[in-house]
Parts: sequence; structure tokens; C-alpha cells
Amino acid sequence: MKILNFGSCNIDYIYSVSHFVTAGETISSKTMSEHPGGKGLNQSIAAARAGGQVYHAGNIGKDGAMLNELLKNNGVNVGYLNVCDEKTGHAIIQLEGSGENCIIVYPGANDLLNEKQIESAVKQFDKGDICMLQNETPCTDYIIKIAHERGMAVIWNPSPINDKIKLESLKLCDYVIINKTEGKYLSGETEPGKIINELSERYPGLRIVLTLGAEGCIYSDGETNLSQNAYKACAVDTTGAGDTFSGYFVAALSNGKTLKEALRLASAAAAISTEGLGAANSIPLLNETLNRMNSN
Ligand code: RIB
Repeated sequence: MKILNFGSCNIDYIYSVSHFVTAGETISSKTMSEHPGGKGLNQSIAAARAGGQVYHAGNIGKDGAMLNELLKNNGVNVGYLNVCDEKTGHAIIQLEGSGENCIIVYPGANDLLNEKQIESAVKQFDKGDICMLQNETPCTDYIIKIAHERGMAVIWNPSPINDKIKLESLKLCDYVIINKTEGKYLSGETEPGKIINELSERYPGLRIVLTLGAEGCIYSDGETNLSQNAYKACAVDTTGAGDTFSGYFVAALSNGKTLKEALRLASAAAAISTEGLGAANSIPLLNETLNRMNSN
């Protein structure tokens, strides 16, 4: 089963700070480093490292050659990744000692994704293939609509959550992968159980994966309920942990793993990804993830 991932590609500038800058304040960062990132790219790399057959669709500028190379070197097909005149998207990331972050994204070329580009990619895929997407690129409602019409399984990680989200689109999704912030936005609830109940009521049959950080994750489709504990990690940078989870989860499903196995693999990989600096570069290879699972 092939995975078509519509998603953002960014250059991440990581500034390590003693605390997040506040209004009117100027602070100095201790270090600054440049890394490959973007929710879409991170998810494609994670899915490929987990053994998925991944096709990445999106846009970068001419300054994004290293992102293109990274995708290719990880076995991701970049036939639907356009190189255009706009600058590659970038993210300015403040990173605290605790591993927590604050991010500003400049979309750049990511914002050029359009209906024509979406149609020409989707028509190369078949019923049963997977279409995954996040919310850092435009036209999410259109992608979901035409991938659903094509008979693809649609898996949406509506991150970062914002008012561009068209709630109606959730009716056409097979899976939604959300964290508590996204869950609150979509359901109006803060308690994990209530988030699940509210979304299950509004979108019957939607398969919901709710990630809860150190509390693990839960799955519900209204009938089957599963939970998975988080793996322990010595976190230095949590950037991209959610993307690692999504990519691993989707790849596991595409390879015929059970939901329980997919949640386990995704949780272990997400934990490992917090132990290195940067988003894409700290995504583990499958062997590393399996070793972590076996040693716990
Ligand atoms: O989810 C992490 C990603 O969010 C970073 O790589 C950054 O590019 C932002 O898009």
C-alpha cells in the first residue's frame, strides 16, 4: 500500500534559550543551528524510516535542495515535490533546556500548493492507498475531498490547528491524529475521554488517535478502544515528536500491522526522536525503534 503525503518542508533555525522571549523583551540565544524540518517532511521521513513506501507532494524553493536530498536519501519519492521561485518555508524555533519549544513558521513555497498540483498527484494513486496530510500547507479540504473520492484512506493530522480548518472535512477522513490542544479545538473538551466521546458523536466511525505526551496515547473508533503507554526518554528537543508518531503510525498501517502494533511502534519512535536535536534528523530508523521496544 503506497502513502502519498501532502506536506510542508521547512528549514528549521533552532535557537537555544534560557526561557521563551516575552512581549517587549530581547534575549540572546546560547546556540543557533540549522536543521531540516517541516511537519510534512518530518512525517515523510518517519514513514519511510518505518518501512513505508512514501511519495512526498509539496513545494520548496531553490534554497531547499538539502531537503530534497534528505527525502531522496531516505527513500522518499520526490516526483510530486516542485521546486519553485518562492523561498523555501522556514521555522524559527526557541528551544528551552526542558526540551519544550515555541515556533514561528514562515510558509514560503509551502503556500503554493494548489488544486492542479493536488489533482495530478492524486490521480496516480489507487483505491486502498493512503493519503496523509497535516495543516501546514493550504487546500487541506480539497486534498481530503479528492483523495476520498479516489477511494484512498485519508489520515489527517490537523497540526498546527487554526481557523483554516474546515470541520466538515473530518467527515471524509478515515483517521485523525490529534494531540490534546487539537482535540480541545475540535471538540471543545479538555478531558481525553470527553474529547473522544464528543468527536465520536459528531463524526461517527472516525478513527481517532489522541496523543497525550508522557501519558501515552489512546485510540477509539466508537467500538474499539485501545491505549498505549509512552516510552521513557531523556528529552532534549521535543520538536517533531508528533510528526514522528504520525509517520510511524501511518507506515505501520500501510504495512498491515495491527492498530495495537502501530500505536506501539509510533510511541517508541516518538520517544526516541526527543533524544536528539532537530526534527527530521532525530527520527529513528526502524531497527532502533524495535530495539527500544524490546528493551522495555
Ligand atoms: O512539528 C515540527 C515542525 O513544525 C518543525 O520541523 C517546524 O518546521 C514546524 O513546521
